[in-house]
Amino acid sequence: MASPAVLVLGIVGSGIMAAGIAEVALIAGHDVVVRSRSIRGANDVAARVAKNLDRRVERGKLDAATRDDALTRLTVTAQISDLAHCSIVLESIVEDMDSKVALLRELDTVVSNRAILATNTSTLSVSKLAMTTSHPNRVCGIHFFNPATTMPLVEIIRTDVTTPDVIDTATSFVASCGKDAVHVRDDAGFIVNALLFPYLNNAIKMMERGTASMDDIDTAMKGGCNFPMGPFVLLDLVGLDTSLSILRTLHEASGNPADAPAETLLRLVADGHLGRKTGQGFHTY
Ligand SMILES: NC(=O)c1ccc[n+]([C@@H]2O[C@H](COP(=O)([O-])OP(=O)(O)OC[C@H]3O[C@@H](n4cnc5c(N)ncnc54)[C@H](O)[C@@H]3O)[C@@H](O)[C@H]2O)c1
Repeated sequence: MASPAVLVLGIVGSGIMAAGIAEVALIAGHDVVVRSRSIRGANDVAARVAKNLDRRVERGKLDAATRDDALTRLTVTAQISDLAHCSIVLESIVEDMDSKVALLRELDTVVSNRAILATNTSTLSVSKLAMTTSHPNRVCGIHFFNPATTMPLVEIIRTDVTTPDVIDTATSFVASCGKDAVHVRDDAGFIVNALLFPYLNNAIKMMERGTASMDDIDTAMKGGCNFPMGPFVLLDLVGLDTSLSILRTLHEASGNPADAPAETLLRLVADGHLGRKTGQGFHTY
């Protein structure tokens, strides 16, 4: 029997984050509709979610009946109209303003005016995205971290016009997923990325100056700060294209030349080396 907190979550995208958030929401008991541009991308998300749930069962972290039930609550589609009945639609497509604006305009014509349109953007202006819709007060950021299945934090981002009930619903949803919410005003990079990415960028610039090797910088920040991974391993995990977009937005917001993205990052992205997801980034996988 569904508890009142159970909702239908729409997720748009088929990348690292979309699949992770789908898994988290399914385990929390929600119905999930994942929409990708192609049915192949959508099926790929379903396959990744099923594989991860199988792995949880093998490790004794989930029973087989719960896995089977979770999979019955997952729908994947290439049709945007299949999101019409969702109470929250969370977009998690490429970190690019034009692509997100185009998507939100399309979603605006499909979802109910009581639904919440949320973005998983890492740094882009939630206010700008909201203003492209006909109900900007129903737009907020729900920013999961990577990997969504294990990272405990979610940032909830409000704009000047987001209504309190939207933030309350987003907060309840995040709590239902077993995550810790923090609330933040719409400001480039919110809390975590505003503080984290200048450090990551500086690590690349330190290597470029020849101060220390990539491996020694990774080792130093693990051993010296007790971080779970060094900056280059983390950049590869986030994805170098996503990292570059984040740094460009932060640089644009500050206007400080010292915040310009590091040259090596620009070169790796131009060469198609995007980190773990392509098998090659700063490290090889
Ligand atoms: N990777 C991270 O560590 C991380 C963490 C938190 C939030 N995010 C945010 O989540 C979002 C997705 O990131 P990701 O890491 O899953 O990326 P990804 O590269 O793994 O996936 C991007 C997805 O966007 C789709 N896409 C690309 N261009 C598109 C377009 N024009 N229209 C519609 N869909 C398009 C791709 O098909 C793919 O499904 C971004 O906004 C990113 O900033 C990423």
